[in-house]
Amino acid sequence: MKLIKASDYKDMSRKAANIISAQVILHPSCVLGLATGSTPIGTYEQLVEWYRKGDLDFSLIHSVNLDEYCGLSPENPQSYRYFMNCHLFHLVNINEKNTYVPNGMASDLQEECRRYDQLISELGGIDLQLLGLGHNGHIGFNEPNKAFEKTTHIVDLGQSTIEANSRFFPTIEDVPRQAITMGIKSIMQAKKILLIVNGESKKEILRRSLYGPVTPEVPASILQLHPDLTVIAGEMGELEIPQ
Ligand code: F6R
Repeated sequence: MKLIKASDYKDMSRKAANIISAQVILHPSCVLGLATGSTPIGTYEQLVEWYRKGDLDFSLIHSVNLDEYCGLSPENPQSYRYFMNCHLFHLVNINEKNTYVPNGMASDLQEECRRYDQLISELGGIDLQLLGLGHNGHIGFNEPNKAFEKTTHIVDLGQSTIEANSRFFPTIEDVPRQAITMGIKSIMQAKKILLIVNGESKKEILRRSLYGPVTPEVPASILQLHPDLTVIAGEMGELEIPQ
């Protein structure tokens, strides 16, 4: 594992964008695994800025997103498809047909999960997976659980996730109770993983994720077993690293 400390959110975003840019420049037709939430917004802004300067070309890139709420259409401003369109896809020259987000409106959600796993494998797997970290240690929407869920699946969102995500919705009642998420196996099979985490409030869960026991109670702890994990931690002060 490589742990990079960033001084603040902007620094974290720039460092993360640097790693993604290197991937895009060296492997112009690679598969990027992407995340939503507030943490990657600055990273996407930086990528868009470099794209506008002419430094990046996304025309051959494929992307797969980690997750989507059940029941929200792509036109719904709270859907993750809408988020990705606004923050990245519509602002760079990626071919929208090559961008994949689980379909939370599918009539058969189990079939949609199977289709998504199949799609990832047909793309040849994920070259670089960007991840954020939930306050409860979730990655994607893999919530703390008794066992690691391996493949794409439907998840009942935990109360703390519903509360955390309610900031994006008019009221907490509007937060969908279920989501589709890529499973731990699809995430762990990515060739490289880039975890970005910002702010003191996530310091303890980051410490448990990186240095605590590997347990499905802290889903991100599985990342300790990945052979090519980079973590960029912003605004954490001193992150005590156990000897
Ligand atoms: C979103 C996702 C989630 C978020 C996590 C952190 O696609 O996969 O795991 O990364 O909830 O969210 P923020 O960045 O809003 O704190």
